[in-house]
Amino acid sequence: MNVYYKIKPLFDNSVEFANPISHDEFIKNMPKLLKYHKALHLRPIQNNENILSNFTEENYCQIVLDCKLKKFNYFGGAAPRTKINVPQGEDLIFTANEAPADQLIPFHHELAQSKNTPSYVSFYCKKSPETGGETPLMDSSLVYRYIHKKYPEFEMKLKSLGVRYIRILPSENDLSSPLGRGWKSTYEVETKKELEEKLSKMIGIEYLWLDKGNISIKSEVLPAIFYNEETKEHIFFNSLIAAFNGWQDKRNNRLKSICYGDNSEIENDILKDITNFMENNKVCWKWMEGDIIWIDNRQAMHSRNTFTGDRKVYASLWNRPINESNEPKMIGCRNNLVNMPLSFGLWKVKNAKEVTYNAIKQGYRKLDCACDYGNEKEVGEGIKQAIDEGICKREDLHITSKLWNTFHKPEHVMLGFKKTLSDLKLDYLDLYLIHFPISLEYVPIDKKYPPEWVNLDNIMILQKQDLSETWKEMENLYTSKLARQIGVSNFSSSLLRQIVNCCKIAPHANQIELHPYLTQQNMLKLCREYNMEVIAYSPLGAKSYIELNMANEFQDLCNHKTINNIALHYSKTPVQILLRWAIQRNTIPICKSSSIKHMNENMDIFDFSITETDMILINKLNKNLRFNDPGKFCLEAFKTFCPIYD
Ligand SMILES: NC(=O)c1ccc[n+]([C@@H]2O[C@H](COP(=O)([O-])OP(=O)(O)OC[C@H]3O[C@@H](n4cnc5c(N)ncnc54)[C@H](OP(=O)(O)O)[C@@H]3O)[C@@H](O)[C@H]2O)c1
Repeated sequence: MNVYYKIKPLFDNSVEFANPISHDEFIKNMPKLLKYHKALHLRPIQNNENILSNFTEENYCQIVLDCKLKKFNYFGGAAPRTKINVPQGEDLIFTANEAPADQLIPFHHELAQSKNTPSYVSFYCKKSPETGGETPLMDSSLVYRYIHKKYPEFEMKLKSLGVRYIRILPSENDLSSPLGRGWKSTYEVETKKELEEKLSKMIGIEYLWLDKGNISIKSEVLPAIFYNEETKEHIFFNSLIAAFNGWQDKRNNRLKSICYGDNSEIENDILKDITNFMENNKVCWKWMEGDIIWIDNRQAMHSRNTFTGDRKVYASLWNRPINESNEPKMIGCRNNLVNMPLSFGLWKVKNAKEVTYNAIKQGYRKLDCACDYGNEKEVGEGIKQAIDEGICKREDLHITSKLWNTFHKPEHVMLGFKKTLSDLKLDYLDLYLIHFPISLEYVPIDKKYPPEWVNLDNIMILQKQDLSETWKEMENLYTSKLARQIGVSNFSSSLLRQIVNCCKIAPHANQIELHPYLTQQNMLKLCREYNMEVIAYSPLGAKSYIELNMANEFQDLCNHKTINNIALHYSKTPVQILLRWAIQRNTIPICKSSSIKHMNENMDIFDFSITETDMILINKLNKNLRFNDPGKFCLEAFKTFCPIYD
């Protein structure tokens, strides 16, 4: 289309795109722009004038289609809608919620009360109302942050219990109510029997027939707080505020429309306060005919003000772009902490039973162990205690361990693995890694365990071993389901390529030293190309190596001016900045701490986001400074030269 748009990010008053953007340019950049700005306002223009007369719903539909998004099947919504016929198809655009003009539609994410939610919501203004009728927007991560700071107990309850929605539906659409969509059109059925059959297949749903053909439907338990893997942000993603303020009509009582997942009552005063917060922080502007907005439904909520006059706003709901193979995940935070990109490390942990138990109790679900850490028995006891006390189940945990250097010969791989497994008191590992690409002389388990770097005569002896043969045995662990994922650690890019080129099962991850003094951009790029996870060890840099005399206080990143300034700016600690930086680089940091205070501090990194500018400032601290270098410490400690990096 030969159209230009005046474009404005709706959440940032300070940004106005300097020049109008062409249709093609917008289409090309639409997912990126929306990811970054969360909501965009487009005003189609020609010769710097608004196209009011000749821009039609047909043109709007073409923009939507040109974006090449996956189709979203509208199903389960409460709002009555009418399809708008355009030549491109009859189910592409429809009226926005046709709730009566004098009724406000509260803030909501489109279809957040169901499991079927669109990625994008777009609106087009065919006719602007006389007064009011705006579509205010709210950044959901902002709401999450507000709750996180002001109501930590409420947040915990939402996370652990989830929520349920209760709505009474008439049989036919009732246009006098904003939630008047009847059960026949909602569930695409004709009879009560058909509806019952459909509902009985939906796990967790309860229903009750009422008089006049109405039905009360209680949803399954749904998460109310999500983690957005794409933006690395938590969001308040639900329909709580919409239901609490708006699910009121002649059938429904808004105060009975929601409850926690255990059916207990949600605190009304908190919901009222969150509603006020949204009102005070919402973004509002006036519709003009021809205006279009795009909303990333994972990041922003919308509402609708009351209005007078005739208002025609059309909507279109879509999923992510067709060409996107790995859609970013939305992780519902309900007993689902295992998917959070943060791991707990157990190297140099002394009272490992207590520390492991405490870490799990504080909410860590990924644990990073190794034979070489010499504490797997105690770690196993800590895991057992946490499971026995019902803090979590085995399947809620993700446990990593590593094959030590003396077990590289194919006949020793299973031996080393089984010892780790029995020490940890587990029957499978989630991830098993080759600890170092360094093969050492075998030391029998009954003679010395953990074997460490030297043999029984206290000498470090390198052994000839083809690592691809070791990898074949790792693959056997995978195929026999003893290790759910297999990977490597401390592998350089050429070694990684070697394994990838000869393997049947590619490494799931490479665990490497990563912090702002050692950013390893090329390795990150390569792993991304191989679709391999990057796990970042020693994310705090020197901190872990000072006690070993392998680093000094001056090298501590927490004392660096840049990190300190950024920490001050976000009201976070330097450690939190380092961990957050790692997460925003799409790596999974492993952080070790023996203190509960530090454990909690290190987990409190999901309520803020480092800007791209600050990320670049931190990236620039790189000096390729490696603290964990066998080429150095093996020579110093064991008089054996075995570099693995050039
Ligand atoms: N694959 C490998 O070869 C390899 C190598 C090294 C490490 N790793 C893994 O990665 C994990 C993490 O690396 P790491 O242990 O070397 O280092 P790290 O986690 O970067 O740093 C740990 C050090 O930082 C301190 N610390 C933690 N949180 C803090 C906070 N909020 N404020 C102040 N100090 C804090 C800890 O002290 P406190 O205990 O007093 O809190 C400890 O001294 C290891 O435990 C291990 O699981 C793997």
